[in-house]
Amino acid sequence: MKKSIIIPALSFCTIIASAQSPDALYRTHCASCHGARFQGGNAESLVDGHWQFGASQTDIEKNIRDGIEHLGMPAYAATLRDAEISALTRYLLESENTAIRQREKIPETLETLDYRIKVEIAAEGLEVPWDIAFLNENYALVTERPGRLRIIENGRLLPNAVNGTPTVLAEGQGGLLAVAFDPDYLQENNRWIYLANSHGLEPEEGKRAGAMTRIVRGRIVDNQWTDEQVVFEAPHETYRTTRHHYGTRIVFDREKNLYFSIGDRGTDPHAQDLSRPNGKIHRIRRDGSIPEDNPFYNQDSAMPSIFAYGVRNPQGLAIHPETDQLWEAEHGPMGGDEINLIRPAKNYGWPVITYGINYNGTSITDIVRKEGMEQPVWYWRPSTALCAIDFYSGDLFPRWKNKLLAGALKFEDVRLLDIEGDRVMHEEIILKGAGRVRDVACGPDGAIYIILNDPGTILRLTPES
Ligand code: HEC
Repeated sequence: MKKSIIIPALSFCTIIASAQSPDALYRTHCASCHGARFQGGNAESLVDGHWQFGASQTDIEKNIRDGIEHLGMPAYAATLRDAEISALTRYLLESENTAIRQREKIPETLETLDYRIKVEIAAEGLEVPWDIAFLNENYALVTERPGRLRIIENGRLLPNAVNGTPTVLAEGQGGLLAVAFDPDYLQENNRWIYLANSHGLEPEEGKRAGAMTRIVRGRIVDNQWTDEQVVFEAPHETYRTTRHHYGTRIVFDREKNLYFSIGDRGTDPHAQDLSRPNGKIHRIRRDGSIPEDNPFYNQDSAMPSIFAYGVRNPQGLAIHPETDQLWEAEHGPMGGDEINLIRPAKNYGWPVITYGINYNGTSITDIVRKEGMEQPVWYWRPSTALCAIDFYSGDLFPRWKNKLLAGALKFEDVRLLDIEGDRVMHEEIILKGAGRVRDVACGPDGAIYIILNDPGTILRLTPES
């Protein structure tokens, strides 16, 4: 951790002698969303010189005190005293000035228990890259959250984004999110590409527009997005005016069913309500129809696409290459990031049971287990801001076969989890401090690809020969 963050904090300690230092307050209450070094994570950076809601001491104090509810910024009026809020604000402004954004350089090699690894930059200059999908060794697609779909061809990021991709609501955590190739993409007349995005409705007079995660598919012909079909769009009355907790990733099982997730959209109890799309894992066919063997298919008042429920904000989904099990990673509240093994009809407990507490320090519930609710396979305390997961299925790192890669935004790390059956046996951090990790993927060439945000970079990891 850089010294420059600690030093300004000490001067404030002497001013408000009995209170916690602003640095400690920041770490306790804010770092989980805004990042260990203010650089952002689940929320925007606080040191990029850009203040959407006002840059003055008074504006910032107000935003901390009252929160920005619709975007997921909690109010701290009940948790922090006015003096603490102003000290914290001065600390933020000072930290912004002390160029703390100079990040550690991306390492050229990594030492892990099994391998010495070479790190290369596969692509850079992307804006909030979010998800990567590979067709083969020569062709990959990358989403940029503000709403662009980019192509990497023969190892080179093409300068132009694909034209005509869906309009996205790029506010808060929303935008263009997941991308996936159809499992039969190479078969004649297929060529489908799936995209998940936050879809905004037309705002009614004087009201905020509702938004929800939506899945479309389309084709790319001459760099143009064409033939678009909506494969999942929730009933508009279920749309929410918040701008966070959209999920999601897109994965396919052996039967080629499509799974995606929607976060709770900031309304916790909805995760337990089967009539709502949010806080759920969904399973649909590729054309958007609903498999008859979905667990709630015949249950009145339940959405038939729901496969499992009680999840908070799952931004990681991966299918185990051998068992075909669906694994999920979700952002919990503070201290409750989870890895779950998703089974049909199961309830993963949010917000009734959780290992976490609210980000503003108040407690959510005292219970961590309950009859009829699933326990996570693994959880992190404190939260790492766990984002994406993928099983390693290549040949370049034979000792890592079927191990789970897990990337974290706030902790800026990639962990390798050794899984046996439905248990995690061992965890090793293989990369740390190179940037916020938005996606991890095993490429068709057996290399490990890591998407970093801020700045938007894609790393390629191979064993050093
Ligand atoms: C649960 C996550 C979360 C926590 C915890 C959190 N924030 Fe935020 N904060 C947000 C979100 C979301 C926004 C809206 C900006 C965005 O789109 O990310 C925001 C915005 C802000 C803004 C306005 C930024 C601007 O551009 O004008 C300030 C200032 C801020 N937060 C300070 C804090 C401080 C100080 C703390 C700790 C006391 C804190 N936040 C804790 C999620 C969080």
